[in-house]
Amino acid sequence: MKKKLEPINVLYPTPAVLVGAVVNGRPNIITIAHIGIVNHARPFLISLSMGKAHYTNAGIKENKAFSVNIPSENLVAETDYAGLVTGKKVDKSRLFELFYGELENAPMISSCPVNMACRLHDIYDTQTHDLFIGEIVETYADESVLARTVVDISRVKPLLFDMSSKKYWSLGPALADCWRVGMTIKKKNRG
Ligand SMILES: Cc1cc2nc3c(=O)[nH]c(=O)nc-3n(C[C@H](O)[C@H](O)[C@H](O)COP(=O)(O)O)c2cc1C
Repeated sequence: MKKKLEPINVLYPTPAVLVGAVVNGRPNIITIAHIGIVNHARPFLISLSMGKAHYTNAGIKENKAFSVNIPSENLVAETDYAGLVTGKKVDKSRLFELFYGELENAPMISSCPVNMACRLHDIYDTQTHDLFIGEIVETYADESVLARTVVDISRVKPLLFDMSSKKYWSLGPALADCWRVGMTIKKKNRG
């Protein structure tokens, strides 16, 4: 029996990521879980939904650049902390060791195994949120999380965010092969 709920968003889990930007001339880090994939081919576009009150937004708008860093389970407390305090009051620039690629205003986090530097592509402006659309211009990964040339998420051990339970979850085992497991039904239905 189904129960009708309020029309709430239940699109979880999403990975909790650390977004880096330069705000007022200093690096700042914010935790973001409302992140999306816009385009999986060139131009590689991703989205961040960021409440307008956050300190980071102005820096992304000014410098037109940001980074997206994927923390592993060992960074759960630091990830939570970056989402608990604001750069308006606390200097978060020394929370992590940072490095830079070709975008000088996209500080990336050394201790996160995967990093993407993004150029601001567009902003979808809602009443409450800036939806930043970024084009990925550089991607870095620790060799320890690579399976040959691709990122192996079982080695990354991302933090999976769920709003209902307000908890970080771990990735479970792989279940089946995409574009393959459905073939049994396709064959049975002959197309
Ligand atoms: C796990 C987690 C996920 C979060 N996801 C988002 C999000 O997707 N969008 C958002 O606007 N704020 C999100 N926040 C809240 C911001 O990270 C938080 O308000 C932060 O302190 C703002 O930092 P700033 O003012 O330095 O920019 C999240 C916080 C946590 C702990």
